[in-house]
Amino acid sequence: MTDAHGAGTGPVSDWDPADPAVQADPFAEHRRLRATCPVAHSARWGGFWTATTWEDVRRIGADRENFTATLRTIVPSSPRQGLPRYPLQSDPPRHTVYRRALAPWFSDPAVARLEPGVRRITGDLLAPLVTGEPVDVVGGFTEEAAVRALCLFVGLAEAEAGRLKSLGLRYVEAVLAQDLATAGGISREIDGFAVALVEDRRHAPRDPAADVTTGLLADPSGFTDEEVAGMIRTLLIGGHTVQKNFTGSALRHLAADRDLQDLLRTRPEMIPAAVEEMLRLHSPNQALARTTTKEVCLGGRTIPAGSPVALLYLSANRDESVFPEPDRFLLDRQGAKHVAFGYGIHACIGQPFARLQARVALEETLARTASFAVEGDTVNATWPEYGVTAMRMRLVPPGGG
Ligand code: HEM
Repeated sequence: MTDAHGAGTGPVSDWDPADPAVQADPFAEHRRLRATCPVAHSARWGGFWTATTWEDVRRIGADRENFTATLRTIVPSSPRQGLPRYPLQSDPPRHTVYRRALAPWFSDPAVARLEPGVRRITGDLLAPLVTGEPVDVVGGFTEEAAVRALCLFVGLAEAEAGRLKSLGLRYVEAVLAQDLATAGGISREIDGFAVALVEDRRHAPRDPAADVTTGLLADPSGFTDEEVAGMIRTLLIGGHTVQKNFTGSALRHLAADRDLQDLLRTRPEMIPAAVEEMLRLHSPNQALARTTTKEVCLGGRTIPAGSPVALLYLSANRDESVFPEPDRFLLDRQGAKHVAFGYGIHACIGQPFARLQARVALEETLARTASFAVEGDTVNATWPEYGVTAMRMRLVPPGGG
């Protein structure tokens, strides 16, 4: 059968996430798919399947027999060379070992210890921007805050943040363009950060209770240097690129809803609930992926063994069968939990740190301003990310009109 993209034999192409119309309004397309074709095939990027409902995304996330994370975790594929990405690209039993070793670094007390540093970074970046004049809040704040917070977490000097940030941005761009040669080269440079950290801590260990690399090297599981570098490497991209997209979305949301902005400014204790509802509405990982290990029947479709399947979190989180009035922001929304952090054994281990950064970003922005508003057009990240990649804002200081 010839499909909509003329890709020869194979199932009909139900949708194309790279279609400019879909990129401009992904939500309308997701709604259509959930209603007419909840498990959809796309001929884009060599062909892949998409699960669009909350139920199916969770079903796949929990199904370790029919789906594996070892072959790819995004569509289109990233260059599979250089350091392995643990725990993301591993299955149990090894996944359990990596996850157990990393868990204490993301515990509530460990993350709480990071709060003063995150608040300092956030305040330092915001202070010069709150002038009432239009400023670049992505370059000046959201991107910088996320990458500097990550440097704080992994113990990289903040001076390294600039290089890591630009490598992260260029890497995502190259993967999306499927320029795997360029992406592979950038990936090796990012590997270099992780390898250098591991070598440094091997020769000059720090306090294993305070430094994640030293702690992982001292773990009783006896990880190899490559395994530790692989765990650090996973954090070096995943730990900041989606974070900055989300902070941008959260600020844009508040700029557009002045009542909510004012409410949260006077009632900051409501910010965590607002962050949860924004994670549902503006999930910054649009989709991550698995591969079928055998033929699977899902939503009335037969997916062959070895097929990539994208878990479309952005759609699942607006699934009308689970979230009443799914496109509305409801601060006191009850019921089903969103899947912005994924579901199952690979669910984001960095969630507490991600929530901390989002909360502090909103607390500091609201506390330091009388109001803020978007100036001009904003630019959105495209598949497989979602969120704000360019935005100018006027951040008006208290007493500034
Ligand atoms: C708003 C920000 C973030 C969002 C929405 C997010 C989302 C996700 C999602 C959806 C997954 C599941 C991947 C899968 O099932 O294939 C994941 C995994 C992961 N995330 Fe996050 N993430 C965020 C921030 C962070 C941060 C700040 C860190 C660490 C510094 C982090 C570290 C990880 C790691 C290590 C995994 C792999 C877990 C595993 O495979 O067991 N994330 N994240």
